[in-house]
Amino acid sequence: IDIPSFRQDLIGWYQSNKRDLPWREDKDPYKVWVSEIMLQQTKVDTVIPYFNQFIEKYPTLSDLANADQQDVLKTWEGLGYYSRARNLQNAVREVVADYNGKVPANEKDLGALKGVGPYTKGAILSIAFQQPVPAVDGNVMRVLSRILKIEDNIALPKIKKQFEKYVDELISTVDPSSFNQGMMELGALICTPKSPMCMFCPVQEHCQAYADGVEEQLPVKSKA
Ligand code: ADE
Repeated sequence: IDIPSFRQDLIGWYQSNKRDLPWREDKDPYKVWVSEIMLQQTKVDTVIPYFNQFIEKYPTLSDLANADQQDVLKTWEGLGYYSRARNLQNAVREVVADYNGKVPANEKDLGALKGVGPYTKGAILSIAFQQPVPAVDGNVMRVLSRILKIEDNIALPKIKKQFEKYVDELISTVDPSSFNQGMMELGALICTPKSPMCMFCPVQEHCQAYADGVEEQLPVKSKA
């Protein structure tokens, strides 16, 4: 794969085709954080109104830190997976206590916060701080398994780590935010699980699965 050309095609496409989503309006690490937590088990269309309400109610990190936990859970109602909301508020309180209310901009401190796993950490560092850190979720694994024609089982944790290594090599140091979000956007809009729209794909010429006609056979995903 020609990495500079792949990056350029992906990022150029993202910048012209990205959806206007409320969490893309600014790069406030707090808002990026809230959005990425909501998006982990919930679809974009569902998240939008919840995100807007949540930010209206808790516009800043310190507003959320100071809020009553029951109120926070109430605002989360309907999104499910309430431990996400509890962890988020607890972590935000840690940021106030230990980091003067500023979201830490390094992997070690950020990754130590409650509920902040490798995906969330990478998303915040790349989107809010333009650091070249992978943010690999299921969508990104699907896209990459096709581009690189990787036949490993993506349900295995050690394979996910392998994908993070691949993204480490591919990610742009110029615009890591657009790179990671471009991968997510490609997975959402073009490189879908079924019937991917390869005819419209900005990185079709880089895709090994497309070249071999096996895009619909990837990724391999089996729990067992
Ligand atoms: N899914 C997870 N993070 C996302 C983001 N920043 N934009 C769109 N979809 C996402």
